[in-house]
Amino acid sequence: MKRSLFFTITILILGLTTMMNAQKDDNNLNSEVKKLLDKMTIEEKIGQMTQVTIQTVSKKQGNKDQHHELDLQKLEEVVVKYNVGSLLNVYDKAHEIEYWHEVITKIQDLATKKTRLKIPVLYGIDAIHGATYTLNSTLFPQSLGMASTFNRELVKKGAEITAVETYASGIPWNFNPVLDVGRQSLWPRLWETMGEDPYLVSELGSTYVKAMQENNLVPKDRFLACLKHYVGYSFPFNGLDRTPAYMSERTLREFFLPPFEAAVKAGALTVMVNSGEIDGIPGHANYHLLTEVLKGEMKFKGFVVSDWEDIKRLFTRDRVAQSPKEAVFMAVMAGVDMSMVPTDLSFYDLLLELVKEGSVPVSRIDDAVSRILFVKMKLGLFENAYPDKSYLPKFATAENTQANLEAARESIVLLKNNKNILPLGKDKKVFVTGPTADMLSVLNGGWTITWQGNEESLMQSDKKTVVKAMISEVSSKNIIYNPGCSFDKMLDVDNAVKSAKESDVIVLCLGEPAYCETPGNINDLTLPKAQLDYAKMMIATGKPVVLVMIEGRPRIITEIADKVDGIVVAFLPGMQGGVAISDVLYGVTNPSGKLPITYPKSPNAITLYDYKPIEFFDGNGYNPLYPFGHGLSYTQFTYSDLKLSADKITENEELKVSVTVKNTGNVKGKESVLLYLTDLFGTVSRPNKQLKGFDKVELAPGESKTVHFTLGWEHLSFIGASNSRIVELGEFVVTVGDLKSRFNLVFGGGK
Ligand code: BGC
Repeated sequence: MKRSLFFTITILILGLTTMMNAQKDDNNLNSEVKKLLDKMTIEEKIGQMTQVTIQTVSKKQGNKDQHHELDLQKLEEVVVKYNVGSLLNVYDKAHEIEYWHEVITKIQDLATKKTRLKIPVLYGIDAIHGATYTLNSTLFPQSLGMASTFNRELVKKGAEITAVETYASGIPWNFNPVLDVGRQSLWPRLWETMGEDPYLVSELGSTYVKAMQENNLVPKDRFLACLKHYVGYSFPFNGLDRTPAYMSERTLREFFLPPFEAAVKAGALTVMVNSGEIDGIPGHANYHLLTEVLKGEMKFKGFVVSDWEDIKRLFTRDRVAQSPKEAVFMAVMAGVDMSMVPTDLSFYDLLLELVKEGSVPVSRIDDAVSRILFVKMKLGLFENAYPDKSYLPKFATAENTQANLEAARESIVLLKNNKNILPLGKDKKVFVTGPTADMLSVLNGGWTITWQGNEESLMQSDKKTVVKAMISEVSSKNIIYNPGCSFDKMLDVDNAVKSAKESDVIVLCLGEPAYCETPGNINDLTLPKAQLDYAKMMIATGKPVVLVMIEGRPRIITEIADKVDGIVVAFLPGMQGGVAISDVLYGVTNPSGKLPITYPKSPNAITLYDYKPIEFFDGNGYNPLYPFGHGLSYTQFTYSDLKLSADKITENEELKVSVTVKNTGNVKGKESVLLYLTDLFGTVSRPNKQLKGFDKVELAPGESKTVHFTLGWEHLSFIGASNSRIVELGEFVVTVGDLKSRFNLVFGGGK
């Protein structure tokens, strides 16, 4: 007893000392920042707030065999004359890691040797599922796939490896994670999200940020995450990218803000702004959200970077500003600290004019620049801004590939398995067909070697597509392959039908080509007609069909879903995705992914799993093809002994919940245990249920484990009628698996 008290006190003291040291370090940094700021001219300050692309400082575009070329004169003008604080992105396609070292070295040579104050440049890149723009990097499942694993450890590992490989490339700043909550399935950026549930996104998002910034692989504080796109971008009313969202402050705070709050608490130091608008106010002109909420309420200490060209667009697109200059004024005064201009120096010129004429106060500039310098100092750039060659051996290692494979395997979701059609016997003759069966780009999606990720010829040629992985698993004599149809037209159908008839089972790989952002806009979530018609032809052969959907959003397959025997969905499972899918098909891996989104039955059925009572009333209902959290295994799990530590708690207490999970089948398997909470009555209508806990366990046949959860104020609270977070007394239901238990929240004197 005494011993445990001693340990508790020691841990508390250690914790407090670490916090105080961090505070002291930050205070020291702040005084360093102040000293540097005092030496800076207004021009130097505004330069720090400017970010341009590498294209802006390059001579000509490269091609498949040859790199683009930096224009050293332009680079010098941008870095030395204009003191530009940040550069971003890549020229056309991924570079070899050594080439990145050359590029970053040239930039930092100018910044740290030729500028008056020797302030290093901060280079940023979209390394959203691995080091996207470095050749042969480890490319993980995209975020929606990672979320399907419901496994914090895998998300952590993926973030660490992404950080180490991007850092090894000489780049310390990653424009990720996307913390937009994916509540609009048509949106072409759905696959960049971690799904439709705010708790899931908050948990995985903050795990990602911590792992990226505080792992054991990159020296502490030497790598930066960037939360995007703050906030509400993922809920466009018409589903198209960069179109308006309409939502009340309460909806924003209940569903879209929590992941950003959690990730800021986890230590995130940069935030990118929502490229769209909410209720008519563009993200980049939203003083309330950027300054009052993010920097005020959330006490965000880092800096806010605009998204691509979005300050200019306040004038050119949104027409909320009447000139480019007014656009700069609006954005900077709203709280944007750095402008991703990104291809010229207009922001610099216009902001300088605004400051000189007194419209933008120097105090706002000082605030923005202090934030940028604080981050640069915290990142250790002033000590060493150069690529660290000792990290080259840590890039794309066999261990990294293995971690990627494990993530890809757990990201695959088995939706349907009639008569145990899966796993396939290795002696079965399989006809593999469909447009996604033999392509790597479709497994990876956007931000893979190029922005759109759709250049098949540039993919990592040593990696396996689905059909190639299946051939490796069982030998080519048991696999017949013919694509049969493309994404939108029939191809060699007669031969395909003939081969299908000669097989024991058809593996039909349908889905989407790779796309990214606005070019991925579609008007109908339904899978293109050619693919559905082709599926019907395969079904008509009478052979059992296993449908493999490889996609970035849930394309509607209702017409064929009840006629196929098995359905597997892979939300962009990355470079190891082909092997992972084959492993699931042949039972090398027992699938354990679950849906992080609702899989709708029809394009307009957009009710999500946390629907309101009124959405289930008077003929309404939640009737998707597959609900959020659905995912089968080759074994069975049974739940028992759902126990709550009390039948009532106060707002100041915690409730412990435990449940026992048993593997009652014949093979080893992993199960994500999901805990939902229902607040039965509330002055603001309460969702049917909300995810408030999850944990993944691995169980051998016959084995049981008890899983523990803790529920407290943050789980029980919601955004009340006055738009602030409250709890209301009354009855709650806890649901885990098919078990339910109730407890009451009673008054304990107030928080
Ligand atoms: C995207 C961002 C991205 C930025 C830089 C924008 O178009 O919206 O997510 O980080 O480009 O590439």
